[in-house]
Amino acid sequence: MGRLTYFVASTVDGYIAGPEGQHDFFPFEGDHMKALFEEFPETLPVHVRKQLGLPAVQKHFDTVIMGRRTYEPALSLGIEDPYAPLRTFVFSRSLPPRVNGALQITPDDPLGTVRALKRESEARIWLCGGASLASQLAAEIDEVIVKLNPRLAGAGVRLLDGKFNPQNLALRTHRVFNSGVLFLSYDVLK
Ligand SMILES: NC(=O)c1ccc[n+]([C@@H]2O[C@H](COP(=O)([O-])OP(=O)(O)OC[C@H]3O[C@@H](n4cnc5c(N)ncnc54)[C@H](OP(=O)(O)O)[C@@H]3O)[C@@H](O)[C@H]2O)c1
Repeated sequence: MGRLTYFVASTVDGYIAGPEGQHDFFPFEGDHMKALFEEFPETLPVHVRKQLGLPAVQKHFDTVIMGRRTYEPALSLGIEDPYAPLRTFVFSRSLPPRVNGALQITPDDPLGTVRALKRESEARIWLCGGASLASQLAAEIDEVIVKLNPRLAGAGVRLLDGKFNPQNLALRTHRVFNSGVLFLSYDVLK
């Protein structure tokens, strides 16, 4: 069975971006960044990895899925496949469907796609976001890794914005960085 991990950066009040998609208020310096670079290099976009001289090593994930609004900033920079070489699914009904190597832009049902991926393979799937896509996939999330930032946003894009559906989590690991960032890993109890 494959595994779906919502790996996401959040403020303490549960926002993953500002109301206009802002993310520059998250701390991008400090000891948590070193851990991110070393342990989750595949979660950095290719142009950032290139700037930092980081190899395209897949430590946790072989597949990434995202909604169109999460994909849009890379596309606007002319970067079509931001997380290559990960197999990438971008869900959108407005972009033209497209398959280019390991990249797929698709209007298909995200839930059906993820269930098939999990059933048919040992895929280690990174649910990149955003809130709209993650909410639709909430029932299929096996693991949540939150990079909890010492910030309050007050408003913006929530970690999930679906319907009320409490789920229990079991804390697996926690790491506290001098920067004030925490990495929290939870298993979703089914
Ligand atoms: N902090 C973090 O770690 C993190 C991670 C990821 C994202 N983010 C932020 O989250 C924000 C985006 O989140 P969001 O909730 O606004 O949007 P989103 O989930 O990224 O994308 C929503 C879009 O995905 C497509 N989509 C959703 N459900 C679909 C379905 N069932 N079938 C086909 N396509 C579907 C639609 O695209 P169309 O309109 O094209 O049909 C929809 O408008 C951005 O600001 C991003 O920076 C933050």
